[in-house]
Amino acid sequence: MHPSQSASTRSINLRMVAISAISFFFGIQLKTLQDLFSNSVARDTKSVRDAWDPSNSVARDAKSAHKARDQGRMRDRDERRKREKKAPLPSSDENYDDFEPLPWTLPQPTPVRNKTSEEFMEDYIAAKRKHNIPLPWEEEEKYAEKKVSLPLPIIALNFPKSATLTMSAYFSCGGLTTYHTSTQNGRIAICMLENHLHGTPPMNGCDTKRPRVGSRYGDEVPVDFISDIGLQGPPCYYASVHDGGLENIAKHYPNATILLVIRDAKSLYNSMKGWGSIIVRLKKYCGFDGKLHDGENMEYWRNMYDSLPKRREEEYCVNFYHAHTQKIREFAMSHLSMTYVEAELENKDIGTILQKYTKVSPECVMNCHPGPFWVKKHNTTSKCHPIGQNPAELKNDQPLKDEDDEGDNSDGGNADSGDGSDDEIEDDIGDENGKT
Ligand SMILES: *[C@@H]1O[C@H](CO)[C@@H](O)[C@H](O)[C@H]1NC(C)=O
Ligand SMILES: *[C@@H]1O[C@H](CO)[C@@H](O)[C@H](O)[C@H]1NC(C)=O
Ligand SMILES: *[C@@H]1O[C@H](CO)[C@@H](O)[C@H](O)[C@H]1NC(C)=O
Repeated sequence: MHPSQSASTRSINLRMVAISAISFFFGIQLKTLQDLFSNSVARDTKSVRDAWDPSNSVARDAKSAHKARDQGRMRDRDERRKREKKAPLPSSDENYDDFEPLPWTLPQPTPVRNKTSEEFMEDYIAAKRKHNIPLPWEEEEKYAEKKVSLPLPIIALNFPKSATLTMSAYFSCGGLTTYHTSTQNGRIAICMLENHLHGTPPMNGCDTKRPRVGSRYGDEVPVDFISDIGLQGPPCYYASVHDGGLENIAKHYPNATILLVIRDAKSLYNSMKGWGSIIVRLKKYCGFDGKLHDGENMEYWRNMYDSLPKRREEEYCVNFYHAHTQKIREFAMSHLSMTYVEAELENKDIGTILQKYTKVSPECVMNCHPGPFWVKKHNTTSKCHPIGQNPAELKNDQPLKDEDDEGDNSDGGNADSGDGSDDEIEDDIGDENGKT
């Protein structure tokens, strides 16, 4: 090695030691955060956030009502913890009340977003064949003893209100260990965010399921499937939207399966609108209107947001959703050694389409009601039921308006309700159904 080269290597090494020491004292996240937020606009996000849309009094009122609700929520949470003398879960949002939103990117339109799921899967499968990469669902011997013909873990990137619980129930019914929204360690999103910031495997710390106290089930088991992995409250994290999230999955789980169940964008928007404050939060905490960050890509989103009259927020959300699908499709195409499965929730054949990839029975596609209210109101034991066998309907012997469905292929309408609370720790369906 050239002497000056080794000298500079040494000085880099010394710098690394110094940085490690500093990081050690101030908490490792500081350095990582500085890297992530080297742009100065991000530092100003507080004022941007405070000044958010001052001309829109409706939004302002909604915002202050929302803020009051948030504060109340945090107070309730803290009091509840004090009462119960419970330490916060490892993956709690408690450390993130002042967290700066992470930078995110979604691509500008190319024709790939306009394909149906079936058309895209055809292209995807052709690309894998071209590169001689085997399709797991065709490797019969390899998966003969397995319950599902897909490599594990399976990570569902579906947005909230688009079959996150439905897919968790589906794979649980198919015999996998599933988690939806939260694990025994807290929110999946926080777990994934912290691992992203540390460059560690995305599910570290949320990758095992422990038996319940007094459970007759044995030791802890690996988690096979996760869904509803985003968080729209602070600190806001979506692995599929925030920069580096998908890459961190690919790096640590090169053989994992990515699942995406998409839904008609307009009905998803209406469903989200009726679900507590998801849309307000996606703007306020995540800056998904393009307003909390800088750069060419953000300018594209910010301009689109500003150029649409307020009542056309729907159009913005529809664009955003299609861009999200496009980003994931592009990722799938550039990571062919991973496995990708996509399907449309509204497709009446979704059960048989999924079965082709998973070998799980179509009957495992159920109708789910994710909020806490539905179960209480109808005194049911599970949030999901087979399609056409709504226990509330069977009991009352008359069709009900479906209050908080996930847009499954029921014709129950989309008048969703629920508080969309980020605090809710949802038990996985596996336990509810007595399966693990
Ligand atoms: C996708 O389809 C829509 C509606 O048909 C069309 O307006 C748009 O230009 C298409 N986008 C691309 C990128 O092909
Ligand atoms: C991924 O699969 C390949 C081929 O089956 C195997 O050699 C490799 O060890 C796997 N990698 C991981 C991280 O599981
Ligand atoms: C709820 O259902 C359980 C069992 O199905 C029943 O014992 C109980 O009385 C029901 N409660 C109400 C309020 O209907």
